[in-house]
Amino acid sequence: MKIKLDFHMIKGDGDSSYAKNSSTQGKAILSTKPMVEKATKEICMDLQPRSMVVADLGCSSGANTLLFISEVIAIISEETHASNNNRECPMEVQFFLNDLPNNDFNHNFQLLEQFKQSIVRDCARKGLQHPPYYIAGVPGSFYTRLFPCNSVHIFHSSFSLMWLSQVPDPLDSSMNKGNIYIGVTTPPLVAKLYLHQFEKDFSQFLQTRFIELVPGGKMVLTFLGRKTNDVVHGGGMMNTSLELLSQAMHTLVVEGRVEKEKLDSFNLPMYGPSVDELKQLVQESQLFDIIDILPFDLTFDPIDKLELEESATTITGRPYSIHEAIYR
Ligand SMILES: C[S@@+](CC[C@H](N)C(=O)[O-])C[C@H]1O[C@@H](n2cnc3c(N)ncnc32)[C@H](O)[C@@H]1O
Repeated sequence: MKIKLDFHMIKGDGDSSYAKNSSTQGKAILSTKPMVEKATKEICMDLQPRSMVVADLGCSSGANTLLFISEVIAIISEETHASNNNRECPMEVQFFLNDLPNNDFNHNFQLLEQFKQSIVRDCARKGLQHPPYYIAGVPGSFYTRLFPCNSVHIFHSSFSLMWLSQVPDPLDSSMNKGNIYIGVTTPPLVAKLYLHQFEKDFSQFLQTRFIELVPGGKMVLTFLGRKTNDVVHGGGMMNTSLELLSQAMHTLVVEGRVEKEKLDSFNLPMYGPSVDELKQLVQESQLFDIIDILPFDLTFDPIDKLELEESATTITGRPYSIHEAIYR
């Protein structure tokens, strides 16, 4: 499979769709709202752009990306109200939703009419006026250039940067037998190859975003990562849930329903970094300053029904949110 062309979350809004199975990711967006708020307010005050450009990288399909957009619109509405809207022209906002080309962008666009009505209702309830805003899709990998130089004020990405651009190279079918990610029986060399691929990809991400961000622009990035520097036993949702998935696939091999060679040669293009790994890569790039870095836990509830939360199996995950400001 070519990730750049074929990869996508499950489309539409059926029972197994991403849209219906992403409440945990939605909780991460709610948890990082204070960082988004701080970044947006600072851009409004310090840069006072006539048109603010905001991009959500790895937006996927469903309500989560619209939740982020609604947060930004609410923050700007409040900010403009607080400053008595004493601008000659109101600030307008351009949102870009980015994901790989095979993402279900149509589903997002179909949700827009309802979304716009909810923004009007929300602002009316608070006695505020929302800024004029425009929403467009940008297909392409966030490991490549997506926007013109110096054109974006805020980059946001949540639960997406753990996806690598490819399975680590040169990881062949015999090197990580029985595992689909870094598991307890994974040789240290394989774990190193995973780390190297993440370093390569994330450094590329930082370099491209540096070119595209306006001077003084900000990024709020939320990662699915791990608690410690121990890549095998680091804890968190990735180690735990992928180990369970690996065991489940093993059962299918034992039952003769999946060929052993297929499982042995399958490796996920994902990597959950530690806080130290992230800090080091940002520092080494010499392109960005980290303003805040905040590890937080989320309960993993695959079922989108709040009333079931108490009884759902909880696996602790640990995404990291980095809020970075540019330094030129
Ligand atoms: C788990 S979803 C998160 C979606 C959304 N941000 C949320 O919080 O619900 C990860 C998304 O990242 C996208 N993705 C993975 N690699 C990507 C890349 N290189 N460029 C753009 N999007 C990518 C996937 O297609 C997927 O839609």
